[in-house]
Amino acid sequence: MIGVSSDRFLADLHILRSFGASGVGKGVVRRAYTDADIGARKWLVERIAEAGLTAQVDPVGNVFGLAEGRSVLLGSHSDTQPEGGWLDGALGVIAGLEIARAAQESGGPPVSMVSFQDEEGRFGAITCSAVWTGHLPLEDADRKPDADGILLGDARKAMADMAGGFVDPARFSGFLEMHIEQGPTLDMAGEAIGVVTDIVGSRQLRITFRGRQNHAGTTMMHHRRDAFQGLAAFTTALNERFRNVVTPGTVWTIGRVELHPNAPSIVPGEVRFSVQWRDAEDDRLERMEQIVRDLARDCAEERGLGLTLSQVGALRPVPMDPRLRAALADAAAAEAPGRWRDMPSGALHDASNVAAVLPTAMLFVPSIGGISHAFDEDTAESDLVTGLRVLARAVATL
Ligand code: GLV
Ligand code: MN
Ligand code: MN
Repeated sequence: MIGVSSDRFLADLHILRSFGASGVGKGVVRRAYTDADIGARKWLVERIAEAGLTAQVDPVGNVFGLAEGRSVLLGSHSDTQPEGGWLDGALGVIAGLEIARAAQESGGPPVSMVSFQDEEGRFGAITCSAVWTGHLPLEDADRKPDADGILLGDARKAMADMAGGFVDPARFSGFLEMHIEQGPTLDMAGEAIGVVTDIVGSRQLRITFRGRQNHAGTTMMHHRRDAFQGLAAFTTALNERFRNVVTPGTVWTIGRVELHPNAPSIVPGEVRFSVQWRDAEDDRLERMEQIVRDLARDCAEERGLGLTLSQVGALRPVPMDPRLRAALADAAAAEAPGRWRDMPSGALHDASNVAAVLPTAMLFVPSIGGISHAFDEDTAESDLVTGLRVLARAVATL
């Protein structure tokens, strides 16, 4: 067993929270490449060096703490959503740091750790693990814009003083990511650990309806080409058209809407919005995409609106590695007997990308009330520590 310190692990988790602490509960705002994010990465580099590991930051800002020789890689991400919690990503990073550090101290097996950059998709989705694993060429990543039109290639210049070369994935024997569940299953069951079977797939489109901006008092209803009316029709019809295709496990979200010019006395000239859907079967994701595209075209045609559709991301469902899964399951059975289960992940994770280049598995700890991507995301400290112990035990058996 690797002799981890739960006090040191919890203390570091709380220090990481201070970078971008939102002031609301334990909330955090730490978007990729902002001052808070870069400050947190600099702090992590210091902890890595202190632990006797070699810090290496790659050109896109993924931070590695490397043990010598061939090692297992542990980690997650330390950027957050525009409104995020203190554990989403941070938990896996600090658990990785603590286990790598403890292994170093006790002359245990070589363990490396990583904090991936832009998992939360300021520039896409799980962006910089996609670059590291070769899913996304660096030149293409650099051209990706955020919501304000800033390009990743320009944003990453803020980390240029830290950046070295890319780390070769072949130096690692496998990847384990510990994460909060971000859903209610474990919390409702009173269980402590989830061993992930598969990570769902996801697709996202950006849609624009262009109408005719005009005066809201003088433009007769039958003369209008109102972009918002197009969106209203689209959202109402979407659930109906999905009805015979989806399962109770399928989810879809219109999470971002920008109305132009967004003023009470102007018939809206343009609306831009995101449509995202997730499911465990790629086939179903494909059929849903056809429905979204057909419906957008119908809504635009019926109202004389212009239409632009672009795909922002497409990720296939990913099964976890059986051998690593078994190691996590055995460790969970030892540390939390009768209080663990196998379960799928409805959230995306860097592990989806890493699974293409390394044997990969994940474990979950409960999220109180199933809340995440919100300031009030939280987990009982006893559950955080149980997760740490399960991960350390699994690593020791590999
Ligand atoms: C990442 O957190 C996602 O599941 O969107
Ligand atoms: Mn997240
Ligand atoms: Mn996450």
